Amino acid sequence: AATKANGGGRSGSIVAPLVVNEDFQKIDVNPPKGTRDFPPEDMRLRNWLFNHFKEVSRLFGYEEVDFPVLETEALFIRKAGEEIRDQLYCFEDRGNRRVALRPELTPSLARLVIQKGKSVSLPLKWFAVGQCWRYERMTRGRRREHYQWNMDIIGVPEVTAEAELISSIVTFFKRIGITASDVGFKVSSRKVLQELLKKYGVPEDLFGRVCIIIDKIEKIPIDEIKKELGFTGISEDAIEQLLQVLSVKSLDDLEADILGGAGEAIADLKQLFSLAEKFGYSEWIQFDASVVRGLAYYTGIVFEGFDRKGKLRAICGGGRYDRLLSTYGGDDIPACGFGFGDAVIVELLKEKDLLPELGQEVENIVCALDKDLQGAAATVATTLRDKGQSVDLVLESKPLKWVFKRAARVNARRLVLVGKAEWEDGSVSVKVLSSGEQFQVKLNDLE
Ligand code: HAM
Repeated sequence: AATKANGGGRSGSIVAPLVVNEDFQKIDVNPPKGTRDFPPEDMRLRNWLFNHFKEVSRLFGYEEVDFPVLETEALFIRKAGEEIRDQLYCFEDRGNRRVALRPELTPSLARLVIQKGKSVSLPLKWFAVGQCWRYERMTRGRRREHYQWNMDIIGVPEVTAEAELISSIVTFFKRIGITASDVGFKVSSRKVLQELLKKYGVPEDLFGRVCIIIDKIEKIPIDEIKKELGFTGISEDAIEQLLQVLSVKSLDDLEADILGGAGEAIADLKQLFSLAEKFGYSEWIQFDASVVRGLAYYTGIVFEGFDRKGKLRAICGGGRYDRLLSTYGGDDIPACGFGFGDAVIVELLKEKDLLPELGQEVENIVCALDKDLQGAAATVATTLRDKGQSVDLVLESKPLKWVFKRAARVNARRLVLVGKAEWEDGSVSVKVLSSGEQFQVKLNDLE
């Protein structure tokens, strides 16, 4: 391998020596800004969280999928002026292809759905847990790398899909001890804006751009928003009306004052609220016209999970994106889904003192009492592992005091000691560490 790596091995040439870096320099032991290592204690928390993500997805009958972290850059380039585009980790690979680390999973999912074409039967219910990369300004719960749990339904045009997606997030919250008094969902529909824009004769192809501008309302001054909306060619009248609609917090007001009851948006939202009752999560959701979301592709209902104390950024978010596939040249299929990050939820769990206490867990610690018995201890370890039990095998000669300390540190349930006299008799000594009980057990009877 060294020969190949150094370009040697051509006929007649001498194998090139390995290039050794003589200039030892101290490296920065921290991972790149905004990224994380996962030492065992953090990995335990991550696994705990991901297991809940996966278990909830299983409860709802979803199948797991995954995609490459590295994708073609073009997959993420949309014209609407999204923030996510400026945050892209993108570069040219060695074959001069423009590639990017995925900032989200939805475009990859759309790509795979198009690729599968008619070979899959709809609806698809897919989930994924994957790492995403965004060059973000770092704030609490916002990182340059995060993991996202996604659940998506492809092929269902009805609001039943959104309703069930929210139900799965609620199920997740309940499992980890979060209640409706901690967290809520703000729900709206982009069709509200769409209907208004239609009323004011704004061309449909401006829709995505307008949504992206409106999504910035809480981040930049209102005059800037008006200016940006003005640049798209929308009349001042329409802008005022738009901004007024966004402040509406009740569906009845929206219906009575603004849309005159005729809108599809109202019908969708009403159905969602009615289904929420049937699913049993009414107290978790509220209408809020200001929720638009920052991705261009949403076309219908949009929702965001928020902490009721208002201290944290959005916990999760999603919505309907019925026209994403055609932007990639595929045939459109109705679709909706959500993304749920691993960072804000951990902040919330910390706030609520709900972080689980997770220690290492191993069923047995096996130790030879004598250096000559290390082979025997290996046999014992293999016997237990063959029976499906985990074993931390002590690999060096260590005093018993050390072994007990280690047993406590790894939370071992049993200590299996391999001593000379017992081993000659084909048995070992087993100590149950919680009770102190001790037994002699034949190797064959180990369970
Ligand atoms: P998003 O709102 O951009 O939507 O991200 C979804 C969630 O991912 C956020 O609510 C947050 O929990 C987490 N998240 C996003 N960026 C960061 C970050 N820099 N650091 C930590 N967490 C972050 C989407 O990505 C859509 N693709 C979701 C979706 C799936 N819509 C339909 N299907």
